[in-house]
Parts: sequence; C-alpha cells; structure tokens
Amino acid sequence: MPAKIIAFINFKGGVGKTSNVVNLGAVLARTYHKRVLIVDLDAQCNATFWLLGHAERQRLEDEPQKTTSQIFRDHVNGTRFFDFDEAVIRGVPRSPAGNPHIPTLDLLGAHVDLLETEDILGARTLQPYFTFLEKTLKPHTQAYDYVFLDCPPNIYNVSKNALFFADHYVIPYVPDFLSLSGFRVFARVVKRFQDQASGYKPKLARPLIAAAIINRYKNVGNVFDQAINQLKLEVGDLRSKGLIHQKAAILNPPIRDCSRMASCSDSHLPVIIHDENAISSQDYEDMATDFLAHFAQF
Ligand SMILES: Nc1ncnc2c1ncn2[C@@H]1O[C@H](COP(=O)(O)OP(=O)(O)OP(=O)(O)O)[C@@H](O)[C@H]1O
Ligand SMILES: [Mg+2]
Repeated sequence: MPAKIIAFINFKGGVGKTSNVVNLGAVLARTYHKRVLIVDLDAQCNATFWLLGHAERQRLEDEPQKTTSQIFRDHVNGTRFFDFDEAVIRGVPRSPAGNPHIPTLDLLGAHVDLLETEDILGARTLQPYFTFLEKTLKPHTQAYDYVFLDCPPNIYNVSKNALFFADHYVIPYVPDFLSLSGFRVFARVVKRFQDQASGYKPKLARPLIAAAIINRYKNVGNVFDQAINQLKLEVGDLRSKGLIHQKAAILNPPIRDCSRMASCSDSHLPVIIHDENAISSQDYEDMATDFLAHFAQF
C-alpha cells in the first residue's frame, strides 16, 4: 500500500495544525504501529521543537541542509545537498537516555530559513515551483503508512507545495464564527490552486479536502455546539458544490480544550506520553480510530 500523504492546512493560525500532526501521528504510530513521517514545513518550526530535545534542535539550527528548507533551495539553486537518509530523524521523541519513545514515528525537521524560501520560490515563476517537495520526497514515502505535512498558516508557495504533494487535506478548526466564514473562503482558494495545478497532476482535478478536526472544544453553554452544527451544514453545502470531497467529514470526537497540551509541548512529548490520563490523550486515541476508518475509504 502506498503511503497516504496528508496536508494539515488552514490559512488561519493557531487552529491546531501542529498539535494534530504531532499527537495524531504519535497515536497512530504508538497504538496502531503505523509508520508515520512528520514533515515540518513551517518556519516557526513548532513540530520540530515539540518533538526534539534541546541538543538535537541546536544541531538542526546549525545544519539547515538537513531540514525541509534545503529541499526548496536545491531545486532553486540546482544543487543536491538534501539527503533524505541523513536528514530524517528516526524514532521521535527520544528519552533522556536517547531511546526512541515511538520507534515508528519519524521527523523531517524545519528551519527558520523557510521564511526566505517563500521569497525565493515566489521569484521563480518560470518553473512549476509547487512540484519541488513532491519531486524530492515522493521516492521516500514507500517506507511509511502516513506522511503528515505540517503547513504554515497561509497558502503561499511552501503550502502550495504541500497541496500539490498531498493526496488529502485535513483542515484543523477551532469553532467560532470567524473560522466558519474562513472555512468557505479557504475551500475556494484551495480549489482554485488545484484547478491551476491539475495540468501537472490530474489527481488535483478532484476536491481533496477530506476531513476537518475540531480543536479546543469547550463544553460551556451551547456556543461551541452551535458552531459545530453550523460547520456540519457548511461541510454538507461545500460537498454538494464539489468544493470538498464527497466523503469529507468532521472527524470524531472533537479534541477538548486541555491545559496539558501547553505543558506537553514544553516537555517535548506528545500528550499520550506526557500524560496518558489527560482528556486530550483520550480524545486523540479515539480520534485515531475514526481517522483510520475514515481514510480507509479513500
Ligand atoms: N486541545 C487543546 N487544548 C488546549 N490548548 C491547545 C489544544 N490544542 C492546541 N492547543 C494550543 O493552541 C495553540 C495553537 O496550537 P497549534 O500550534 O497546534 O496551532 P497551529 O494551527 O499549528 O498554529 P500555527 O498557525 O501558528 O502553526 C498552542 O499553544 C497549543 O498548545
Ligand atoms: Mg503550527
């Protein structure tokens, strides 16, 4: 079975893209023994910092050629410095003694250089710059069941590489009114890019938004439930208009707001390892079951 390549993307910031990539990836690898590769495409390097200890992070800061930014630089400059086997960090996170907590969870780290990458890619209009990530990483994906792309909060050039490379898009979402209006706009922008790029990859002619994940759910009054009901209506409408996949769904359960999420990124551990009794650990375990059933349909 080829790997399923999934972009976690939303042009809104702080909606849980990185949290979903790290924690869903960790549950799929630890509980279900899936082989998961997390690819950090965000100059903020949040997934990288979350999963690495201080020394490894420092090493990556000094070795940008072992991060995703080198992939883009190589294509733009005609160099071949990026070497997947040297760059991939196998079995993250590691215990203080250096043993992998989750042997089948791998990471391709990011570097703040990605900020410059945006400008470099934008200036190169003659090449189909959005194909670069796929060209370099596709040959390495057969070793995995899932490749999760952690995207920056925009749909600029690096994100377009993720949209081109991925088989499916998952939209993390925090339910409020602004997010709802953003969801529709986002679906249109994504579809427009797909239409533009489908000449290079026919698969892009089909809507690829396959799921939404609700994050930071709070059980206070009925504000959140109303927002979720509105999102369900929106998903139904966008499905009927062909802007998202016919089988697109909101994954269950919503990930509840949980104070342990902040402390687990500080401790550089996924929440299931940081505190297996946290409510978000339970939610991510449950969501992984729904995730596997949902993506088995595609
Ligand atoms: N279930 C949760 N409960 C409480 N806090 C959460 C939860 N999920 C995520 N957070 C917090 O919300 C913030 C944003 O989450 P995250 O970094 O995953 O979002 P993002 O979409 O990747 O952000 P960015 O757009 O900056 O990349 C973080 O501080 C994270 O700790
Ligand atoms: Mg993020």
